[in-house]
Amino acid sequence: MEVKIYNDYQGLSAQVADHVIDLVKQNPEAVLCMASGDTPKLCCQLLVQKATSENIDFSNVTFIGLDEWVGIDATNEGSCRFFFEKNLLDPLRFRQSNVRLFNGLSDDLDGECERMDAFIKGAGPIDLMIVGIGMNGHIGFNEPGVSFDLYAHVAELDKTTTSVGQKYFNTAIRLDRGITLGFKHLMESRKLILMANGAKKAGVIKKAVEDEVSNIFPATVIQSHSNAVVMVDKDAASLLQNSLSVAANK
Ligand code: F6R
Repeated sequence: MEVKIYNDYQGLSAQVADHVIDLVKQNPEAVLCMASGDTPKLCCQLLVQKATSENIDFSNVTFIGLDEWVGIDATNEGSCRFFFEKNLLDPLRFRQSNVRLFNGLSDDLDGECERMDAFIKGAGPIDLMIVGIGMNGHIGFNEPGVSFDLYAHVAELDKTTTSVGQKYFNTAIRLDRGITLGFKHLMESRKLILMANGAKKAGVIKKAVEDEVSNIFPATVIQSHSNAVVMVDKDAASLLQNSLSVAANK
């Protein structure tokens, strides 16, 4: 696992966007998986700008949404689907047949997980997975205590997730379950980027990078991946031991 530190959120987001552009230049049929949330927002904007100005074709790229809130309608702007469509899929004109997002309203959530696993088995492995980190160390909705042996699954959400998650919604909302890719998917991806920015993420980044790997703090799983990069701005890196950090000078 490598740690790369950027001066600010802009520099971090630009670098992650460049990773995606480079991947698609090398392989126009790449398989990309991404989290929604506040962290990747600017990266998505920059990615759309760069792809548009460089005329990069995303129509053969496969996109997999990392997770979704159970019971939340796709038209709700707090849903992950809403985020992906607005920030990435529509502006980059992904082909619908190349996109697989969880349906959090499905009345057969186990079937939804099986369909997602089958889709990834057919289209995968995932070339690049870009994830964020929650304030409880979750990745996707892999909550504290999660088994590292799972593919897609439905998760009971931790209290931290249900309260922090309110920030995505216009009005207070009941959030109790999520549907998510599992750590088996994460470990099988060819490249994994964990992004974080801001001082509020400094404590969780320190734990993810420096604590012993354990499901008590799920994001520590990143240490076990053979091609993982933790990409953070200076604020999120502020509690890391120097020896573990590689200054990226950008
Ligand atoms: C969202 C997701 C979550 C977020 C995490 C950080 O699709 O998978 O695990 O990545 O909660 O959220 P932000 O980026 O809003 O701080």
